[in-house]
Amino acid sequence: MSLEEQIINQYNKRKSESLYSGGLYSEHVDKEIYECISGVLKSEFNDYRDLNVLEIGAGNGSNAEIFVNCGFQIQNIYFNELLPERINAIKSNYPNNTIFEGNAIEIPIDRKFDIIFQSTVFTSILNTVDRKLLAEKMLGLLNPGGIVLWYDFIYNNPKNKDVRKVDVKELKSLFSKSSGIYFKKITLAPPIGRKVGRFYKLFNVPFLRSHILAVIKK
Ligand SMILES: C[S@@+](CC[C@H](N)C(=O)[O-])C[C@H]1O[C@@H](n2cnc3c(N)ncnc32)[C@H](O)[C@@H]1O
Repeated sequence: MSLEEQIINQYNKRKSESLYSGGLYSEHVDKEIYECISGVLKSEFNDYRDLNVLEIGAGNGSNAEIFVNCGFQIQNIYFNELLPERINAIKSNYPNNTIFEGNAIEIPIDRKFDIIFQSTVFTSILNTVDRKLLAEKMLGLLNPGGIVLWYDFIYNNPKNKDVRKVDVKELKSLFSKSSGIYFKKITLAPPIGRKVGRFYKLFNVPFLRSHILAVIKK
């Protein structure tokens, strides 16, 4: 099965099982992601006005708001996605932005970026060879001084065989050509986070966190 077929099957299944839940937990998770990304960007760059960012596997494009709220210009945000209905959602949400349509590993992208962002894309890709190819492509798309910004989970979910963790050891081996990697554990693990509601912050201690936010330097 090709990577495109795997991703299409996976997301058709997810639609019918409606795995996503919004609500208070999502609000806390999104706020924490925003604060961590904002902190990383402040420590890595001085001025965002002319910086550009490409999100690989951008879904419906909603993560663009993180960068806009941090001070990026909307026209400097570029998208990649392979699922047709998500590409359409990006087009409708961001009609004036560039979308690189298709499998990020294969499509030609004829320019470089200051930031390549990926959020829960690698854990959707089950095959190690594809993961390595995508990691290499992402590093290759960076301008000098650029960073890959990474958000993904580091533990398997025994109830969901359609996704597979990327732990820190694998992350380092995927980006073995990087000049430096650092990361922070974030996100109170979903099974706990969904139960504790407004006490998210109280329970959000490192050993209960399920994801990492990583910075991978060119
Ligand atoms: C779990 S969703 C995350 C969407 C978005 N990044 C977010 O954080 O909400 C993973 C997305 O990656 C896309 N994807 C997976 N592999 C891809 C690839 N090789 N090229 C482009 N998009 C890909 C899927 O179609 C899906 O929309």
